[in-house]
Amino acid sequence: MSDDYPRPHVLMMSEITVDGKLTLKRGVSSKILMKYMAPETEVLLHSTRAEYDAIMVGSNTIRIDNSFLTVRLVEGKGPIRVIPNSHADIPLESNVLGDDARTVIAVARDAPADRVAAIRNRGAEVVVAGEHRVDLPLLMGVLKEDYGVDRLMVEGGPTLNWHMLHHSLVDEIRLIHLPFIVGGEDTPSLVGGMQIGSEEEMIRLSLKRHYMCGSNLVTEYDVVYGDGGHVVP
Ligand SMILES: NC(=O)c1ccc[n+]([C@@H]2O[C@H](COP(=O)([O-])OP(=O)(O)OC[C@H]3O[C@@H](n4cnc5c(N)ncnc54)[C@H](OP(=O)(O)O)[C@@H]3O)[C@@H](O)[C@H]2O)c1
Repeated sequence: MSDDYPRPHVLMMSEITVDGKLTLKRGVSSKILMKYMAPETEVLLHSTRAEYDAIMVGSNTIRIDNSFLTVRLVEGKGPIRVIPNSHADIPLESNVLGDDARTVIAVARDAPADRVAAIRNRGAEVVVAGEHRVDLPLLMGVLKEDYGVDRLMVEGGPTLNWHMLHHSLVDEIRLIHLPFIVGGEDTPSLVGGMQIGSEEEMIRLSLKRHYMCGSNLVTEYDVVYGDGGHVVP
């Protein structure tokens, strides 16, 4: 983990097809794919949520999947739900703004005041982190210092995954492999937005565990960082 500044330990967890996709096609909810997870794997997902202090997904996942991000299927405390949403423009009727668990919406300083007020009226806490766009390293510091988040789980989507990896903010990756191929050139995959120029820029992982959970293969990796928390070239 980076020792540049305090931040939570971060696990990225995702359901993924054999061809590395997170959903059937662009704009479609991943809940369709998730229906094909083994019951044991659904329990794994929810028990992992219960082990973490906070869970974060991107604002587009909220728009498309309308996720609840709660702990179901197992006993346990619901993690704080964290959504980076620079302009406070997620729909006010989003499930994540319901009162099932504590919710933090991270916005940029120039987010419209009326939108911020409307989100607060729905019961969510609003954190300002960044000027024009949510500054993820800054947000990590706020979660750790002000919210006591020691362990954060990130459940996608691909754009948020990329920005977290790009800032060297991910420590572990856990993948639930679904035995399907969906294809599609622009179908969201585990990491979107990444375009590397050379092999030196590849993000290195170290496989630490693999096992069957019901009928699903699960793989667990550490992200390999060097001194100062940067990905090892
Ligand atoms: N299979 C799975 O496990 C799984 C899990 C989750 C999602 N999904 C799928 O993924 C798809 C959605 O993924 P997506 O890639 O479109 O969206 P996303 O990753 O859910 O959301 C995009 C996020 O990136 C933020 N962002 C953009 N640029 C940034 C920057 N420079 N710094 C910090 N944050 C930045 C945006 O926030 P702003 O509001 O601030 O712009 C937003 O929070 C859906 O189809 C969903 O079903 C699948």
